Amino acid sequence: MQKVATIGEVRAMIQKWKKQGEHVGLVPTMGYLHEGHASLIRRARAENERVVVSIFVNPTQFAPTEDLATYPRDLEKDSQCCAEAGADLIFHPEVSEMYPDGFCTSVTVDGLSAGLCGRSRPIHFKGVCTVVNKLLHIVRPDRAYFGQKDAQQLAIIRRMVDDLNIATSIIGCPIVREADGLALSSRNAYLSADERRAALVLYRAVCAGEALVRGGEKKISVLIDAMRTVLSQEALARVDYVEAVNARNMQPMEIVARPLLLALAVFIGKTRLIDNCIVE
Ligand code: PAJ
Repeated sequence: MQKVATIGEVRAMIQKWKKQGEHVGLVPTMGYLHEGHASLIRRARAENERVVVSIFVNPTQFAPTEDLATYPRDLEKDSQCCAEAGADLIFHPEVSEMYPDGFCTSVTVDGLSAGLCGRSRPIHFKGVCTVVNKLLHIVRPDRAYFGQKDAQQLAIIRRMVDDLNIATSIIGCPIVREADGLALSSRNAYLSADERRAALVLYRAVCAGEALVRGGEKKISVLIDAMRTVLSQEALARVDYVEAVNARNMQPMEIVARPLLLALAVFIGKTRLIDNCIVE
């Protein structure tokens, strides 16, 4: 496995592989890799002759008040994870490589980016779409892999790729959880022991909502109330949002229709965590 930091080096590798008729899978990440990321890399490994993992803590998707400076980083450990999961190439550019002086283009996906995480993080998806667009142009992968953990991000990227006629198939992958149900996240590293215990409330709330839908509940307001009630029982939790929307277009609804996305964002202490479940 090779590690490169420049766009030129990535392009040269990709060109060589494409000449050999090899398919390329891309797994975009911000590093501090865990089993959730590894599951994406392994899936890419199974479906492509070559796998590229990008590791880039993308500054444009963080608001000035957010955790860009403290976002956890460990390239050494990440390299080991990538090698074990079967990656061929790590692309870990500097900020100046991705955003050189004078950079002033961005990509926005209207509508889909407005609610849920977009409401509390107004510039977030513009940064995500811009960097993912760049990565797709740099690597030109046959397939790119994203986790359903970030369900809104996945829906937005699917839309962007369709709208801009980008010749990459977007593959959504299931959420990987700890044994007790907590969704794996690089930000779980911020949690104290008490907060780690409290963080389980996200999964409990999602499960409560899902159980009601599967039991035939039709009123969205009842689902939201039930999830909020679960969350209110945890003193360390402060709700950012709890929503139940159409899983494809993120539009709110009053009566349950499938595919339904139950999604929530909750601060546990200072750490903002998200979780969700799609009922097909
Ligand atoms: P990051 O949070 O590092 O996540 C990289 C990819 O891993 C995303 O597609 C995310 O949904 C997936 N992922 C994270 N936790 C997961 C879990 N528990 N189970 C399954 N998949 C999981 O998402 C980003 O980075 C950035 O926004 C990025 C797309 C790289 C653009 O900067």
